[in-house]
Amino acid sequence: MSTKEKLEQLKQKRAKALLGGGQDKIDKIHSQGKYTARERIQLLLDPGTFEEYDAFKLHRCYNFGMEKIKFFGDGIVTGYGKLAGRPVYIYAQDFSVLAGSLSGTLAEKICKIMDLGMKNGIPVIGLNDSGGARIQEGIEALAGYTEIFTRNVLASGVVPQISGVFGPCAGGAVYSPALTDFIIQVKIQSYMFLTGPKVVKTVLNEDVTTEQLGGAAMHTTKSGVTDYAAENEDDAIQYIKDLMSYLPQNNLENPPDAPCDDPITRRSELLNDIIPDNPNAAYDMKKVITETADNGIFFEIKKNFAPNIVIGFARYGGKAIGIVANQPSYYAGVLDIDSSIKGARFIRFCDCFNIPILTFVDVPGFLPGTAQEFGGVIRNGAKMLYAYAESTVPKVTIITRKSYGGAYCAMSSKHLRTDINYSWPTGEIAVMGSKGAVEVLHAKGAKAAEDPRAFLAEKENEYNEQFSNPYCAAERGYIDDVIEPAETRYRIINAFESISGKRDTIPMKKHGNIPL
Ligand code: HXC
Repeated sequence: MSTKEKLEQLKQKRAKALLGGGQDKIDKIHSQGKYTARERIQLLLDPGTFEEYDAFKLHRCYNFGMEKIKFFGDGIVTGYGKLAGRPVYIYAQDFSVLAGSLSGTLAEKICKIMDLGMKNGIPVIGLNDSGGARIQEGIEALAGYTEIFTRNVLASGVVPQISGVFGPCAGGAVYSPALTDFIIQVKIQSYMFLTGPKVVKTVLNEDVTTEQLGGAAMHTTKSGVTDYAAENEDDAIQYIKDLMSYLPQNNLENPPDAPCDDPITRRSELLNDIIPDNPNAAYDMKKVITETADNGIFFEIKKNFAPNIVIGFARYGGKAIGIVANQPSYYAGVLDIDSSIKGARFIRFCDCFNIPILTFVDVPGFLPGTAQEFGGVIRNGAKMLYAYAESTVPKVTIITRKSYGGAYCAMSSKHLRTDINYSWPTGEIAVMGSKGAVEVLHAKGAKAAEDPRAFLAEKENEYNEQFSNPYCAAERGYIDDVIEPAETRYRIINAFESISGKRDTIPMKKHGNIPL
């Protein structure tokens, strides 16, 4: 073959590889309103930056006549590119080839870019859309999945790992996204479950649809598996881009700064009025976040799961910050099993990747009751304590109102190695709320009193004056200052600036044993 012919051969092979499972399969994908794997990659990455690897790779299976069914790339597109100018490794399962089902070869392609990501400190983004294990390959497919899971675990805390779920993701395949840091699912067209509706019907005689069992709506509200339910593929891709803008490349780098045109001394007079005089009235903690963050932008995560706690990213003075906040407008911002799991996992993510943590506190306590105790609120609530105590990133806490009991301890209190703790003058820091406290302390007195209600009301007033304020904690240095709400933005930025060079450690150990 002449050189010219060899070049022509490359061109032809490349053209064939670009067609994946063939034009008819691509047309079918488009007719369903979906993008192909390659289109998803092009939309996500900066134009012209994608370098594909293993485009000519073929499977090695001879079972069930598979030697006759071979497509270049074997059901997945993998490679390297740039997202907002920063390198990423990416894979996208190609549904046009045997429904993107996972062969040993396909797994090798994923493992290759994961290994490169880990070695080079570059995030890995996986776009899932697959019929699961390639049935004809049997154990090869299972081995391949498990090799991927192992790498997901080894890469955890080394480089950010993001999963988009754009189509089917069933059986053991769900465990790769589950082991990554964030999952973004496209509404209606994607689903994730261990066993599908048919098996559920056979085993449990339950009737359930694919959407009910594993759709984005379910996973973002009930199971908490998924972080964001995207309206469509474009929305999912935009969310991944926005999310990445807050993350560092790896655990040895800091998150990227952004230019800040929002004055750092900007006051918010609205915050001086946001706390209602009635201690049981609600207000929206997200307003406190948007009033204080750069340009009012808050990138929320897991919005619809356990909304009594709010998590996400924002910038303060251009610096990326992870935010954890009780939400008084949902179940009074109480801590329970789900909100503890949600909060703790996010805190640990931020700590892995050097993202400082800002905590806003308005919490009446942990939720009581049999459902919570039977469900292990002790074990799960402990996750919050564990996550905050082990974290070594800069930490700032603002108490806006209630901070009671165990929830005071758990919400980034000074005693969990938090660097700067401020309270608004409306802070109420005590073992418990006045009503409950007085009923315990003055039960006998109330019985003996002529007018028990008036007696208890008077005692409640006494308790509130003595305890339901920030000054008892401030006297002891557990609160570093009581600040005017309107100046919160400036105080947060200043606080983080003062501790930006923080160096803290945990004792040498193999790893801790967080209560799971
Ligand atoms: C091999 C598969 C396949 C698979 C689909 N195909 N799934 N080939 N292994 N797992 C092939 C089909 O035969 C078909 O080939 C082509 O892909 C497109 O599939 P369709 O069924 O025509 O597409 P669609 O109607 O869109 O349905 C997609 C689907 C369905 C919902 C994914 O194909 C399906 O239910 N597949 C089986 C899913 C499954 O049971 N997977 C195993 C899960 S167990 P042709 O040649 O006709 O185009 C598992 C264990 C993992 O994953 C454990 C890890 C630890």
